[in-house]
Amino acid sequence: MRRWTLRGATTSYVVGVPDHQQWAQLLAWGPHGVEDGPSNLSPTGRLDFLTEADTEPLEYAVRGVRYANPTELVVSGPAGSDESRPVFVDSVEGNGTLDLIFVDPLTSLRLILHYRMLAQLDVVERWVSIHNDGETELTLHHHDSAAFVVPTDNGAVIRYLWGEWNSEFQQASVSMRRGRFTIDSRQGITGHSYSPFLSVADTRDPAGTTWGVQLAWSGSWQLSADVDTMGQTRIQTGRLPSTLGLTLEAGSSWVSPVAVGACSAEGSDGLARSFHAYQRSLAGERLELTRKVVYNSWYATKFDVRADQQLELARRAVRAGVETFVVDDGWFTGRTDSTSGLGDWEVDPAAFPNGLTAFIADLGDLGLDFGLWVEPESVNPGSELAAKHPEWILRTEDREPLQVRNQLLLDLSREDVAGWIWETLDRLLSSYDISYLKWDANRARLDAGEVRGRDLDGSVVANLYRILERLRTDHPGVFVEGCASGGGRVDLGMAARVDTLWPSDNTAPLDRLRIQRGFLSGYSPHLMSSWVTDEAGTVDGRERSLDFRFHLAMSGGLGIGGDLTNWSDEQLTAAAGHVAQYREIRNVVALGNVYWLGEGTTVGLQYVGADRAVVFLWDTGDLAVRASMPTRARRVPLVGLDPTKNYRVGEEVHPGSYLIRVGVPDPRGGATDSSCWVVTAVD
Ligand code: DGJ
Repeated sequence: MRRWTLRGATTSYVVGVPDHQQWAQLLAWGPHGVEDGPSNLSPTGRLDFLTEADTEPLEYAVRGVRYANPTELVVSGPAGSDESRPVFVDSVEGNGTLDLIFVDPLTSLRLILHYRMLAQLDVVERWVSIHNDGETELTLHHHDSAAFVVPTDNGAVIRYLWGEWNSEFQQASVSMRRGRFTIDSRQGITGHSYSPFLSVADTRDPAGTTWGVQLAWSGSWQLSADVDTMGQTRIQTGRLPSTLGLTLEAGSSWVSPVAVGACSAEGSDGLARSFHAYQRSLAGERLELTRKVVYNSWYATKFDVRADQQLELARRAVRAGVETFVVDDGWFTGRTDSTSGLGDWEVDPAAFPNGLTAFIADLGDLGLDFGLWVEPESVNPGSELAAKHPEWILRTEDREPLQVRNQLLLDLSREDVAGWIWETLDRLLSSYDISYLKWDANRARLDAGEVRGRDLDGSVVANLYRILERLRTDHPGVFVEGCASGGGRVDLGMAARVDTLWPSDNTAPLDRLRIQRGFLSGYSPHLMSSWVTDEAGTVDGRERSLDFRFHLAMSGGLGIGGDLTNWSDEQLTAAAGHVAQYREIRNVVALGNVYWLGEGTTVGLQYVGADRAVVFLWDTGDLAVRASMPTRARRVPLVGLDPTKNYRVGEEVHPGSYLIRVGVPDPRGGATDSSCWVVTAVD
């Protein structure tokens, strides 16, 4: 057996190719040390009724090599057979990278398994490239990016995030002794229904070592966990196979999206920290951009955007300490409601009688940057764009396309459409002093089926990514927020190409806390845009204080979205206090290691930074009984502090040993329903 070891910060990933060279297999994946002895993943005992390939932990199973158990690649050639048997021919090793190359002499298919594990992180990136080196066309029927094998001797606890519009990122789990669990999106967009993220732990130790997989794809995808009888779970992920198959012309190649696997000995929370660190690495230098406090007028004015009323909001936003004023939907010609305007990206002179430049100058006089909302992938049927370019509208030939939110999709697989979207954005960003762009997408690709020979999902996502990347190179000063009817496009592909993501349109306090809890289980706080609004809860309608709402939004990228013309002086002063505190702690929130605290009705979040920690605590219980009975002065223990140091917490100084064992005051039963503590070491 040839073996290769990839080493991360605290975990290792070891693959091998047996002497017969018919596949690659996993030898070990887990905390350092797992690789220091014989592999515990290979089968022992009788193989009477199965092939060896069906029982070994294959890294990437091809139909034709194995039959009974799940496969990641199904490819057919001109002879009509769906079998292929690529054999190992070579390997290429780099700094933290590995390519394993396989060739099937019969179909001339060349399959390369790609790996990358950075020494400072705990994730392994995996993807495949598939090359047709022959002279006749091949068809890919199933084409996962990777499969990850996890030991689950006693069965698997599979954790995942489900949702719908207004209730994204709901945490759920299933336990399985044997069986298959699948989540996906069939909508041409990441989707609200499930997040492309799944984690697995052994049922006997659900809080113990946990493995997780995410897929970097913003189109249709699937992710499944297959719990077998041998005590292991196979996690497969990749783009959703097209119903008609993907055509691979002679001489051409296909590259899958990247699947990212992570393992943590510190359970689900540790796994989240590994993914957060990875997502920060994707942001690179852009992580250093100041995450300015945003005001967004959507909740206050909806489609009724007028310069004078926006400026009135802006004046109040300044009093609250806001730094960037974002005008949402409704600023362009014809956009009186959701039935019209999309596609015609000209500033509406009725909304901005002196022009947008003058409006931005007025904001500048107030000390505010300017941000703008766009939804470039969609078009309303009555727009000028739809009349001028009916051929740009995505549809199945001879069929009427379906309207969703009164709109249609442009066919972003077309180069002319991609070019027009780029030119539209470039024109706006070059003509006006815009420092923040909110890119929305409110229509999933529900209709327009597959057409033989066309990779619609692949070309749409490729063009979307190309435009987002070009925004970064040509307009590096523009901070980009990704949004899709709330959290409909949150994934690693977007995390690498935008600066922040909007997790949900639900901004009500208790609902939002649940949503953010789920979001942070897979995605980093630097990506979590969050606003303080006046909205009532749709799932949990109990009221909470303004402080509660601020602390919730301060635990991500703080924004304000309430109708400030209705806020009292007292509320604006309180807001200014929170914003001032946020500006002091925003880097710890964006970059710190995240730990969940509390128990029962107290929910807490601790962000541990290099020089400080920030703690948020929320009382989620029934406030009606607050202080009506004598109660204990409960406190919430902290984590990640040095027990030998002293720390300042508000007005008090305590040893780290006390804060770790006893902690900071629990808001439960106290005078407020939330708190924010900055914990700083003192000499
Ligand atoms: C959906 C988004 O999630 C909202 O924040 C808002 O921008 C609306 N679209 C505007 O139409």
